[in-house]
Formats: sequence, structure tokens, C-alpha cells
Amino acid sequence: MSDSAPVLTIDGPGGAGKGTISRLVAARLGWHLLDSGALYRLTALAAVKHEVPLDDEPALARIAASLDVVFLAEGESATVLLEGQDATTAIRTEQVGDAASRVAALPAVRQALLQRQRDFRKAPGLVADGRDMGTVVFTDAPLKIFLTASAEERARRRHLQLREAGVDASLSSLLKEIQARDARDMQRSVAPLKPAIDAITLDTTRLTIPEVVDRLTELLTERGLASAT
Ligand code: DC
Repeated sequence: MSDSAPVLTIDGPGGAGKGTISRLVAARLGWHLLDSGALYRLTALAAVKHEVPLDDEPALARIAASLDVVFLAEGESATVLLEGQDATTAIRTEQVGDAASRVAALPAVRQALLQRQRDFRKAPGLVADGRDMGTVVFTDAPLKIFLTASAEERARRRHLQLREAGVDASLSSLLKEIQARDARDMQRSVAPLKPAIDAITLDTTRLTIPEVVDRLTELLTERGLASAT
């Protein structure tokens, strides 16, 4: 029965606004939320904590398979516990993001996280945010979105976000990091970042967050997956 719950997949490169958009759409519809990137980040954080090298694939896959993680609240302010400790902010650092990108390139790690991700699919529906939600994890999702924005715009958004948090970072180095991470995510041999053939691509470079949320809600309504709000 849970298999038939509708899924909206939102894939795309980092910084395109997937996290914020997914959270807002899930909240508006009252659907569940899967932040799949958090699972890769948690795997990386657990590996660092247990001093497992980031290229030891079998050990990393074991960590991914036995990840002791609890998502306390869905929606607006999700808190995540790793081995009983609050890891909400620790998984958001650039270092953990970088380690997550390396860990995510390993096929055994992706395989170990597959069922855990599918278990999030429950009534009344799921918004799944990631890189391979539409191409691998939920191939039968009735609506697949590929959210993009230019690398320059994504660097600008990240810069703004960091400045608001009181962190001084150079725009040009952020742009370089974003381009390097994109290249790694797109060129890896397993589940590379690309739109599913049946995905709708939405470029958010010139769109505001409410405009994107409205557009996605419209698409869901048009397909009979949600009622007009
Ligand atoms: O979206 P994010 O920045 O939290 O993702 C962290 C890393 O995990 C990023 O390098 C891409 C990778 N990832 C992935 O390979 N597949 C997913 N479904 C989600 C994230």
C-alpha cells in the first residue's frame, strides 16, 4: 500500500534551492520529506567520527547500512540525531559536504542507502530531494522535477547565506567549489547527476522561492496529485 503513495522527486545540483523548495512544498501539502543528501552527509560524518578512511568502500558501506539516525521533526526545523547526538549543524559544514560527495561516489554506499530512502514513501505522499531520486530511487514517481540555476547564481546565493551567518568567503572560491562538486556529481559512474528522461527541468536562476513553490503545486494539481490550495 505504501508503495502507491505519490512521490514528487526534486533532483538537481547543490545550491539550486532544492532543500528550501522541498521543505516548503512538503509543508504545504502535508507530505513527508526525504532529504537524501543528509543521509550521505551523515555517512560521511559517522566515517570521520569512527576514523574510517573516505576511500574504504566496504567499511563505508557498513557504516551506511547500520547508520543510527533519527529525523526528529519533518518540515520546517528538522533535527537529526546521529548515534543519539544532535548532528543538525555538524552535517552542514563545507568539509562534511565535500566528504559526502566523495562517499556518494561509491556504489556500495549508494546500494546500502537505497532501501532506507524508499522507506520514506508513505501516505499521503513524499517529497524526495536529492540527485538520483527520479533516475534511481523512485523511478515510478508521478512527477519528477530537475531544479537548476546557473553556477554563478548558486555561488551568489551561497555567499549571501554565509554572510548572513557571519562567515566571510570569497565569491570566486565558492564558484570554483560549486563547479568542482558539480563535475564530481555529474561524472561519477554510479547514479550520476542528470535529469530523468521524464523529468521537467525548472531553471530557478530568475525565479523567487514562492514562484517555484507555486509552480510545483500547480504541476501536482494538474496531475491530480494534490488539490488546489
Ligand atoms: O544535497 P547535499 O549537498 O546535502 O548532498 C551532499 C552530497 O551527497 C552531494 O555531493 C551529492 C550527494 N548526494 C547524492 O549523491 N545523491 C543524493 N540522492 C543526494 C546527495
